[in-house]
Amino acid sequence: MTTPIIIDCDPGHDDAVALLLAVSSPAVELLAVTTCFGNCSVEDATRNAIQILTLAGATDIPVAAGAAGPLNGATALGNYVHGVSGLDGPPMPDPGFEPQSGDAVSLLSRTLRASAEPVTLVVTGPMTNVGRLLRDTPELTERIREVIFMGGSTERGNHTPTAEFNTYADPEALDIVLASGVPVRMVGLNLTHQALATQDVVDRMAAMTHEIGKVCAGWMGFFGSSYHRVWDFDAPPVHDPCTIAALIDPGSITWCPAFLAVELDGTWTRGTTIVDLHQRYPDQAPNAQIAMTLDAERYWSLVLDALESLGRQS
Ligand code: RIB
Ligand code: CA
Repeated sequence: MTTPIIIDCDPGHDDAVALLLAVSSPAVELLAVTTCFGNCSVEDATRNAIQILTLAGATDIPVAAGAAGPLNGATALGNYVHGVSGLDGPPMPDPGFEPQSGDAVSLLSRTLRASAEPVTLVVTGPMTNVGRLLRDTPELTERIREVIFMGGSTERGNHTPTAEFNTYADPEALDIVLASGVPVRMVGLNLTHQALATQDVVDRMAAMTHEIGKVCAGWMGFFGSSYHRVWDFDAPPVHDPCTIAALIDPGSITWCPAFLAVELDGTWTRGTTIVDLHQRYPDQAPNAQIAMTLDAERYWSLVLDALESLGRQS
């Protein structure tokens, strides 16, 4: 069965690998890509997304630019991790096509209405575009199979001591999605910190005899240097492709139902995800599925096989 998806992203090195994984797999049909501020400005994220799809030979997938900032509050950017361009490291091909003239919410809405079946929304950046879509057109809820997002954590944060970057960047948008009733799966740092691009993984990318392998190895090099400088990691956690792996190879991740909320007002805790894995809040029933364990060997075999396959085609 092929799952129709839209990826809403802020590429971003790990978003880039997620896009390549989705393009390569017959298990998902990538209907559209929408972009958001986050790792970099939305302008840079949009250019990066088009360059990534050009690299993959997927120049027929519509791309539309979305939010330049959150629904409320200041705009947080992750250039300190992803570099000035948002995708620093290896040179990229020139963009092979233009973005849509309309914005991300227009493309999301149009694509949902045109699909013969409900569409899975994969969000790997701040939730702003999808939050705006559900706030302004709640009737589209029934056209969404689920929202699976990389963000939050059952444990610590990365942008603040308690908040992961994507949920920190726009907590109100996530709050809207949680209140909408759309099925939600959260792929948080507790899961993605199991997806480390170790030296063996990077060496296998570098050994590929095509441009996609070399570019991905270069991305891991830059991403890894940032993760070492900022968080003293020996290998970078490649967060975003975990959302796609969940769709392509469901057995690679285990899940737990839980009550999920996001802090909006905390002076020190804004953007923190509250995950009640043990029903401690008796009047708060589980409203999300939380990713808990990753079969890392299975994940990297999936990703590396996809890159090899895509590299041979394009
Ligand atoms: O905290 C990690 C998340 O923030 C990833 O999606 C990364 O690409 C950034 O968007
Ligand atoms: Ca991202």
